Amino acid sequence: MSYEIRDIRLAASGAHKIDWVKKNCPLLRGLEEDFRRDQPFAGIRIALSVHLEAKTAYLCKVLAAGGAQMYVTGSNPLSTQDDVAAALVSDGLNVYAWYRSTEEEYSRHLHEVLSHHCNIIIDDGGDLVDMLHSSMREELSYVIGGCEETTTGITRLRAMAAAHQLVFPMVMVNDADCKHLFDNRYGTGQSVWDGINRTTNLIVAGKYAVVAGYGWCGKGVAMRAKALGAKVIVTEIDPIKAIEAHMDGFEVMPMEQAASIGDFFITVTGCAHVIVLDHMKKMKNGAILCNAGHFDVEIDMADLRAAALSSIDQRKNIIGYEVTPHRFVYVLGEGRLVNLACGDGHPAEIMDMSFAVQAMSALYLVRHRDHLTEKLISVPREVDLEIARRKLATLNLSIDSLTKEQKNYLHSSAV
Ligand SMILES: NC(=O)c1ccc[n+]([C@@H]2O[C@H](COP(=O)([O-])OP(=O)(O)OC[C@H]3O[C@@H](n4cnc5c(N)ncnc54)[C@H](O)[C@@H]3O)[C@@H](O)[C@H]2O)c1
Repeated sequence: MSYEIRDIRLAASGAHKIDWVKKNCPLLRGLEEDFRRDQPFAGIRIALSVHLEAKTAYLCKVLAAGGAQMYVTGSNPLSTQDDVAAALVSDGLNVYAWYRSTEEEYSRHLHEVLSHHCNIIIDDGGDLVDMLHSSMREELSYVIGGCEETTTGITRLRAMAAAHQLVFPMVMVNDADCKHLFDNRYGTGQSVWDGINRTTNLIVAGKYAVVAGYGWCGKGVAMRAKALGAKVIVTEIDPIKAIEAHMDGFEVMPMEQAASIGDFFITVTGCAHVIVLDHMKKMKNGAILCNAGHFDVEIDMADLRAAALSSIDQRKNIIGYEVTPHRFVYVLGEGRLVNLACGDGHPAEIMDMSFAVQAMSALYLVRHRDHLTEKLISVPREVDLEIARRKLATLNLSIDSLTKEQKNYLHSSAV
């Protein structure tokens, strides 16, 4: 079962969105040209599960231009955009995803993507890799390797590798400098507040924003909250990150304490149950809760739904829950990634870099298919530097290079 185009206008709207992305992604445009000429993916089947909006769609088209047969699904039921999916179908790609799929449909879509003897797996959060290893082992022999997009997916891969369960090599795309330094920090920072702002239409200036987790994403979310005029509180479990947040000028305290102060709460930890019912019962009437971590486990939605005295579908993507009599907390996007469930995800120029890392990592796997000995592969430094050089060129920025004398100085012990 593939995506059906029921409305030709849907596909046209998606195609325009993808075209806008293409216009703003010079790195991917360059790769598309190279791939079209060299056909490095001829005969290769690629399974892809990444938030299915326009930037991802353009990545799919770039890989398809290189000769790949694409089998595509989303990585979250709320982040798939139907018009974008329809546009890919009209371009002849195999797409299995729609907005608001049920959990059962979501799993079925992953299954359908994986049932085509795929050679390269492009995953975002680890669901494809997990399904291949748990219930589709007959497909494993076709796989050359894969690429993982996000922090949480890499956490899952490390656990599998440590238990000697990971059967094929995976490139840790998230850990490339050209990915997490920009995507997690500047991408999440901007797009989370874009999602919150367009969904709530409320003022941020002068209010308290509580950011749970001060990793790469949390730093971006806190930085942009400050720029919008919020008073920022950070909660952490890592003492070093907590000092960093303090020295960056933010208040640091446990969630227990922050709960009664915050107006906006954003979880971005990759951990579970960071905000639980006890916290919510302490919150101000009208507090806004959202999550930017990969899975919808950071806010304890199950307990909230079970305990709520009433609930109200307040606005698109905002549900209010009466946690104590006449006091409501409002959850955005059902506790799923707020920047994708309530927005369009990261800016195109950011995903240009992240997806250039993805595309070049997939190319690396195909080129080195007979010599891949490690199960967890870091993005080669040369790939990272090449993408950074290309990015600088697109920004019309140039930098210095070391003179021979400077190189000698750096490589000698003389002062
Ligand atoms: N929304 C997006 O578009 C997007 C983009 C990239 C990554 N992510 C996801 O966001 C999450 C965070 O990614 P990251 O790259 O910032 O990871 P990271 O490892 O750099 O940072 C996570 C931080 O959360 C802290 N933390 C863990 N448990 C905590 C808890 N219970 N309370 C408070 N702090 C806690 C850790 O100490 C760490 O500093 C992951 O799930 C990742 O997959 C989302």
